[in-house]
Order: sequence, then structure tokens, then C-alpha cells
Amino acid sequence: MAKRQKPESQASRHLITKMNPRSPISEQYRTIRTNLQFASVDGELKTMLVTSAGPAEGKSSTVANLALVFAQQEKKVLLVDADLRKPTVHYTFRIDNRIGLSSVLVGDMVLAEATTKSEESTLDILPSGPIPPNPSELLGSKAMQKLIHEASEYYDIVIFDTPPVLAVTDAQILANEVDGTLLVVRSKKTDKELAIKAKELLEPAKSKLLGAVLNDKEHSKGDYYYYSH
Ligand SMILES: Nc1ncnc2c1ncn2[C@@H]1O[C@H](COP(=O)(O)OP(=O)(O)O)[C@@H](O)[C@H]1O
Ligand SMILES: [Mg+2]
Repeated sequence: MAKRQKPESQASRHLITKMNPRSPISEQYRTIRTNLQFASVDGELKTMLVTSAGPAEGKSSTVANLALVFAQQEKKVLLVDADLRKPTVHYTFRIDNRIGLSSVLVGDMVLAEATTKSEESTLDILPSGPIPPNPSELLGSKAMQKLIHEASEYYDIVIFDTPPVLAVTDAQILANEVDGTLLVVRSKKTDKELAIKAKELLEPAKSKLLGAVLNDKEHSKGDYYYYSH
């Protein structure tokens, strides 16, 4: 089942909210966190996924930084790499990916065994695990529902990284199982029509469409990009 995952040029992945928590970008992530907390006043936003229309728009960066800013508030956070096609969470957090989400879903492990502690004391990571031949099927399985239920009992917040909506059905499937969905749009890269299409595909899902994160928007001073909600 395990496919060999090439290391790619992932060494440069760094987490701004960890390396530079005082930067304006980190501040933007905290703003997104605050907005998400407003969206969950009744406590219904425990599990959420982050997706986008296409690849390389910033889903994984957003997920990792959001998980970190929640953990910086001492929330018990679980970051799950549910991008079972192009997983990157294990590169970002420099952890082993031989065991992870897919291992739990096929019944090889229980959640607690497959989860890795991060350097942040309250942030746990569930990497993708070996890439399975049938990601959509696994994500739509009873085992996935059980995992989400279990995780939401133990953690304050569970955040899922996912593949692009327009490429495969995985994010849509998962959007029926989580409380909220966040759409990342990359400034200058994401085609407006495609972003709208992605939104339309997510709207019928059971989870609440929380809004969009605008990634890579140039700051008016021209010296920085920033993130807004
Ligand atoms: N705002 C940004 N500024 C600079 N680089 C970015 C920004 N957002 C994402 N990237 C880079 O673009 C690449 C793709 O981002 P990633 O978060 O992995 O996207 P996705 O998960 O949507 O495929 C990564 O190398 C990431 O570091
Ligand atoms: Mg990604």
C-alpha cells in the first residue's frame, strides 16, 4: 500500500507563526483565529477543514499556521493531514510519515498511537500515513466518522488539510463530516471563476462555509504579503 514519497524541495517550509510570531502575517493568522472563535460561540466549531479550488494556493500553510496560533492559546489542537494525495504536513513539522491517518482508517492503529506530539506542547499532528489507492473512499468511511468523533472528544479543535476541491471529491466528502470549512484563495493566482466554483461545490455540504482566507495579498507598502479573512 505504501507508495514511496519523494522528499521534494520541502526543506525550506517554515512556519511564520513559529519563527516570527510578532510579524504582521502572524498577526493576520491570529485575526483569522479570532474570527473563527466568533463563528463558534455556540461551541459547534470543533472540527474544520481548509481547502481551495486548485493546488499550491496555500491550504497547507494556512492549516499549519492556524494550528499553531490555536496551540499558542493553549488550546488542545490536532492537525490532520487529510490530503492523502499530496501530503505535506510531515515535511512542515519534520515528522515520520510511515504511520498516520491512513493507518488509522484501515484499522492498523488507533488514533492515539498514530498521532505525534509537536514541539508545541498542546499541538498534536496526525500525518497522512502511507498514500492509499482509494483516498475518497477512506475519507468517506465509517472509520473516518469514528476518528472525527474521537478526536473532537479529546481535542479542543481539530483542523484538516485537504486536496483541492476542483481536482478531487475528498474535500467535499469531508465537508459533510466536519463543523466548518475554510476556503483559501491565493491573490493573483486563483482564478475568480474557479474560486466561485469551489464555493458552489462546498455549499451543499453539511458543514458551515466559514469564509475565505485571502493568501499572498500584497501589502499596500509593497514590502509584504498578508493574510486576511
Ligand atoms: N503567502 C505566501 N507567500 C509565499 N509563499 C507562499 C505563500 N503561501 C504559500 N506559499 C508557498 O507556496 C507553496 C504552496 O503552498 P501550500 O501551502 O503547500 O499550498 P497547498 O497546500 O494549497 O498546495 C509552498 O511552497 C508555500 O510555502
Ligand atoms: Mg497542501
